[in-house]
Amino acid sequence: MNSWNTQPDTEYSLATGTNPRDLAVPDGEFPFTWADFRQIAELVHSEAGIVLTETKANLVYSRLAKRLRTIGLRTFREYCTLIQGVDGVDERQAMIAAMTTNVTRFFREAHHFEYLKTRVLPGLLDGARKGGKVRIWSAGCSSGEEAYSIGVTLLELAPDVAELDVRILASDIDPEMLRRGNTGIYALRQMGDIPPEPRRKWFRAVQGSGGSDLEVGEELRDLVRFRELNLLREWPMRGKFDIVFCRNVMIYFDDETQNTVWDRFAGLISPGGILCIGHSERITVGIHPYDLVGQTIYRRQGVR
Ligand SMILES: C[S@@+](CC[C@H](N)C(=O)[O-])C[C@H]1O[C@@H](n2cnc3c(N)ncnc32)[C@H](O)[C@@H]1O
Repeated sequence: MNSWNTQPDTEYSLATGTNPRDLAVPDGEFPFTWADFRQIAELVHSEAGIVLTETKANLVYSRLAKRLRTIGLRTFREYCTLIQGVDGVDERQAMIAAMTTNVTRFFREAHHFEYLKTRVLPGLLDGARKGGKVRIWSAGCSSGEEAYSIGVTLLELAPDVAELDVRILASDIDPEMLRRGNTGIYALRQMGDIPPEPRRKWFRAVQGSGGSDLEVGEELRDLVRFRELNLLREWPMRGKFDIVFCRNVMIYFDDETQNTVWDRFAGLISPGGILCIGHSERITVGIHPYDLVGQTIYRRQGVR
């Protein structure tokens, strides 16, 4: 474990760029100064919107020390030079991926799925049966559990959903998480929140795993498309969404970035459509065109 012999100056701030005393890392493997920390934090903020305060210095050190080891660098100074340079594009992406928090699980914040099942999806599926389409977006999907939980909810209501025009977009900034989602293989011990019956119907045992791993079945897999997308950059989608899940992503962003993204979602959610956010996130109704209709559930204002 890396230990710090000096705390940052209290007035140190990323916003002002106040330069604290350089911090010696006596028994750390790689020299790491506050100037290095500031450069990394600024890059992570400008590329991904994620705010890293000084309290995250140990986290930055431990996560990126692995990168330094992998690519064979000896100091964070060298690492900063690499990520700032024109040849640093791939490493910048690897750094962002290393700094994201990807914690997720099936049916996390279960009330959202209950709300979809009872209040939103029945009407949307009726519309789809009459020839309409249903579009759902899991934005910041991590390794796919959220998108597949929405898929299971859909399949439980409409086992014939493959015959309807219903799709789930699952996007994230981290390509490794998207690869995992695409693979669709999960450890059975992480799937306790999926009730046994749907788990049996929509997943199957991975051959050779002795039953310890399950993979998503065809019907579920066909509903979900994984795409790399940075919420801070351009969104290539043109059509509107009926439901957007963006949960436990904005919590890492500053207020200004959050407000921008809530408004951008509003531009892509059909009037009457639903936005579900994480348990510790909030949207200020009155500033953004949503009404609060349930616990961390917002309805896009306007008439369909
Ligand atoms: C804590 S996970 C949330 C997963 C899931 N939504 C949930 O609530 O269980 C946050 C995800 O947001 C992604 N993320 C962070 N910054 C992002 C950005 N600028 N654009 C897109 N995704 C981002 C991370 O890669 C990570 O997978």
